[in-house]
Amino acid sequence: MRLKGKVAVVTGGGSGNGRGISLGLAREGAMVAVPDLNLTGAQETCRLIRRAGGKAQAYQADVTAKDAVQALFQQIKTELGEVDVLVNNVGVALFSPFLETTEETWQITVDVNLKSTFLCTQTVAAAMIARGHKGSIVNIASIAGFIGMRGLAHYAAVKAGVILLTKSAALELAPHGIRVNAIAPGIIHTPATHGRVTDPDRLKLYLSNIPLGRVGDPEDLAGAAVYLGSEESSYATGTVITLDGGWIAQ
Ligand SMILES: NC(=O)c1ccc[n+]([C@@H]2O[C@H](COP(=O)([O-])OP(=O)(O)OC[C@H]3O[C@@H](n4cnc5c(N)ncnc54)[C@H](O)[C@@H]3O)[C@@H](O)[C@H]2O)c1
Repeated sequence: MRLKGKVAVVTGGGSGNGRGISLGLAREGAMVAVPDLNLTGAQETCRLIRRAGGKAQAYQADVTAKDAVQALFQQIKTELGEVDVLVNNVGVALFSPFLETTEETWQITVDVNLKSTFLCTQTVAAAMIARGHKGSIVNIASIAGFIGMRGLAHYAAVKAGVILLTKSAALELAPHGIRVNAIAPGIIHTPATHGRVTDPDRLKLYLSNIPLGRVGDPEDLAGAAVYLGSEESSYATGTVITLDGGWIAQ
């Protein structure tokens, strides 16, 4: 058990990728805190973890607001102990042609994907430093942070921001023994993408880009999250693991 005795937090763990990652971390012995806007989703993730013999606690929180983030991590500290692993997974991809993208879509995209990562990382890192405690932070980026995507200019720009936030925070936090890395998934079948990956024409288009010939599953991200969260990756910081079936290798 590579995370036995560790406290891990997976933001947005009430659905999709966050759920897959939460289950993976719990399987390795972590106590997993699952904050989500959708408490029912977070509770369902915790139920699945406990059914599999793991430990988890659900929280309802909006991780785009500083006060809420600070209150959330204070509550987690009180109830579960100090955080060892933070997975910044919350995110949203709203499809919109570039010329039609509104200021509101831009702002939501920045807040949910990037601001949340900034706020949670800053809060957790400050607490780790105050205690002289080492830890690992894992940000969920996207291959859209590396390559342009039609209908997702705002999302691609923000995910590129998540990647450079990862690298820059890694530099500043390394002297404190805090590692910051990212995972860049390709297309993964989650509630957010269900409509697209079950549309035969869309699926065909996706598969034409994926050398491994399949769409990913949230569980495909779990191994990398466990690796980056655990001491197995003790020499890795500021790096990005791409999990996309080979999409951007072309
Ligand atoms: N699914 C994919 O193909 C794919 C590909 C690349 C990257 N990603 C990234 O993976 C992450 C998860 O995506 P998903 O497909 O599982 O999405 P999802 O919509 O299934 O899950 C997102 C979860 O985040 C929660 N959430 C949203 N805003 C929140 C907020 N402000 N505070 C707290 N919780 C909030 C939602 O309630 C939901 O439970 C995102 O960062 C996304 O950009 C997804």
